[in-house]
Amino acid sequence: MLVVFRYLLEAYANMKAVILAAGKATRLRPVTLTMPKALVPVANKTLIGYAFDVLTRAGLNEIGIVVNDLDSPIPQTLGDGSGLGIKLEYILQEEQLGLAHAVSLCRPFVGNDPFCVFLGDNIFQDKMEPLFRDFLSSGAESAIALGEVTDPTRFGIAELRADGSIERVVEKPKEPKSNLAIAGVYLFKPSIFDAISRIKPSWRNELEITDAIQTLVNDGGRVNSYTLKGWWIDAGKPDAIILANQLVLEELPYTPALDDTSRVIGKSEVSHRVILGQNSQIIDSVVRGPVIIGDNTVVQNSYIGPYTSLGDNVRVEGSEIEASIVMKNCVIRNIPGRIDSSLLADGAQVTVAQRMPTTHRFILAENSYVQL
Ligand code: DAU
Repeated sequence: MLVVFRYLLEAYANMKAVILAAGKATRLRPVTLTMPKALVPVANKTLIGYAFDVLTRAGLNEIGIVVNDLDSPIPQTLGDGSGLGIKLEYILQEEQLGLAHAVSLCRPFVGNDPFCVFLGDNIFQDKMEPLFRDFLSSGAESAIALGEVTDPTRFGIAELRADGSIERVVEKPKEPKSNLAIAGVYLFKPSIFDAISRIKPSWRNELEITDAIQTLVNDGGRVNSYTLKGWWIDAGKPDAIILANQLVLEELPYTPALDDTSRVIGKSEVSHRVILGQNSQIIDSVVRGPVIIGDNTVVQNSYIGPYTSLGDNVRVEGSEIEASIVMKNCVIRNIPGRIDSSLLADGAQVTVAQRMPTTHRFILAENSYVQL
């Protein structure tokens, strides 16, 4: 008994995680033209930061990140992870040939131990402790997190046996047999590498991890499922990122209304559940939480409504905004009407013309979106 317990402890100590973040994120352009999806902020924390939270809570502190360029913003921003109290390494996937291809490149990193694969663009309310806790003692070849969805044709879909193990998984089925989607967190043993070596590219010309999981099942291996509690967002599109921002802010714990007169100035009204960063000021403005505001940001003669995140060094003057994400170094000035459900990437400016003619003027990147 003691021997088994020690084995499990040692196995967990060796268990690493890989986060797949090498995609081109075309559905999030123009935001992702200069910023990888993993670094897009949700409630002023990067998307990948939420993956770190789940993994470190489960005791997985050694994390490999699959990227499409080793000299790119993810390695440049996160470095070796020491600033975050974790150990990060980077694994290069030059061409995005599918999730199973990305996982196959991780073999030297994970060695001969069980490991976790986490899709870098998913964000969860559930911390999934039972999924991690039960895997090693279960004897299963793999365990995957599943979430109920309303549009199963967009996901990998699982069919379960009565005991909760996986009978069949199909990637983006035209005629789905269930609404239980593969939610982007997988636990594997090294047997997955052999399964990957035996699959062929799918109709979308990718090596699908879903097909490798089906190979494990066909070989007689057991694949366990864990059904997620609470919300889960595949944050691939702007609307999904904005929704994730709302759901995360919804969970901000209660904090009383700020009464710091050096930062809440003039005729201002700041409600409870408003987080205000260092050197930021609210001047003659109303802020209704849940709201998070970064450092060195100034809000003047404005209204900041619920579910809004303002990054560092932002200026909001003479404007109203709610349920939106405004990243660092943005300017919003004297905009008539209320800005709602919007996503402004670093350095974006929304202002009105200062001189005649008072025309609308746009400098927009690919897939930009303006609604007047
Ligand atoms: O979001 C859950 C879904 O994720 C699952 O239900 C599907 O079974 C699974 O195949 C996956 O489908 P997607 O079509 O949403 O995967 P996507 O191409 O968006 O890639 C997910 C992440 O993996 C993303 O962060 C980019 C990264 N990636 C993707 C590919 C194709 C890589 O690192 N390398 C790759 O080759």
